[in-house]
Amino acid sequence: MNQVKQIQWFPGHMFKSLREIREKLGLMDMVCILLDARLPLSSMNPEIRKVTKNKPVLILLNKMDLADEQMTHHWLRHYQEEGYAVLALDAQSGKNVSKIKTAAKNLLAGQLAREKAKGLKERPLRTMILGIPNVGKSTLINRLARTKATRTANTPGVTRAQQWIKLGDDFELLDTPGVLWPKFDDPKVGYHLAITGAIKDKVLPEYDVAHYAISFLKTAYPGRLVTRYGLDTETLDPPVLIHAIGKTRGALTKGGDIDEERVYQILLTDIRNKQLGGLTFDRP
Ligand code: G4P
Repeated sequence: MNQVKQIQWFPGHMFKSLREIREKLGLMDMVCILLDARLPLSSMNPEIRKVTKNKPVLILLNKMDLADEQMTHHWLRHYQEEGYAVLALDAQSGKNVSKIKTAAKNLLAGQLAREKAKGLKERPLRTMILGIPNVGKSTLINRLARTKATRTANTPGVTRAQQWIKLGDDFELLDTPGVLWPKFDDPKVGYHLAITGAIKDKVLPEYDVAHYAISFLKTAYPGRLVTRYGLDTETLDPPVLIHAIGKTRGALTKGGDIDEERVYQILLTDIRNKQLGGLTFDRP
């Protein structure tokens, strides 16, 4: 737990990225906050909401293919009830990516109608994507850029040379995403980020992460553990389970003992590769 406390916060990185995002926000009609559908709370940096509080926000729950479908429905409802526009998608396969533009237009419908009533000329709507590392920002930008997009001129007023990706005549997306550091005061958030690979292995002790994962799966998805590892035991406590996985998967030391570190790797790899089915770690 102490290690979690020590690495929870990177003020240098955080201030720099927040400043960069603030600089760009003035150019935006709205922002897209990209979250991981498996952890829609843990992947939401609380600072994002403060920074974007005056902008219309579209929440995108990415990696829906890796999440528990039923839980994704819960989370969509949860954010809708909080007053957000929200969409679940899979940026890797492209599922629901084409719905982003419609959702964004609906979100801005009131503003557009007011501008029209004032006689203002129609203009492309501008947006950018914000999110923590590894949530899929580049994948989504590349996917959107592939769909008949063209790159336009540099943006004045933005520090580094930046380009807008034109999505049809009516939308423009900034080609660089806003990166926010995840924040994990709560050790649980740290574990959720580690299990899904949002923060690198070794940032938190693997032993703690694997044991947290087992306890979580034991409570939330016991049947999946039994099926995946062919367990013939009703007991799903960490030591029993580690022993069982080690035996069935041949993760043994030269002396024939269970190689616990290999078991942790097997488990985490299985979770990330969907070998235990779609999993959601944050519960509404
Ligand atoms: P970032 O810009 O926010 O840092 O994230 P990036 O797009 O680099 O995506 C991080 C990883 O997540 C990539 O995998 C990417 O393929 C994967 N990813 C992005 N969106 C989705 C999604 O909707 N579903 C799934 N299953 N994966 C997604 P990687 O292992 O780092 O690279 P690779 O597998 O593409 O080689």
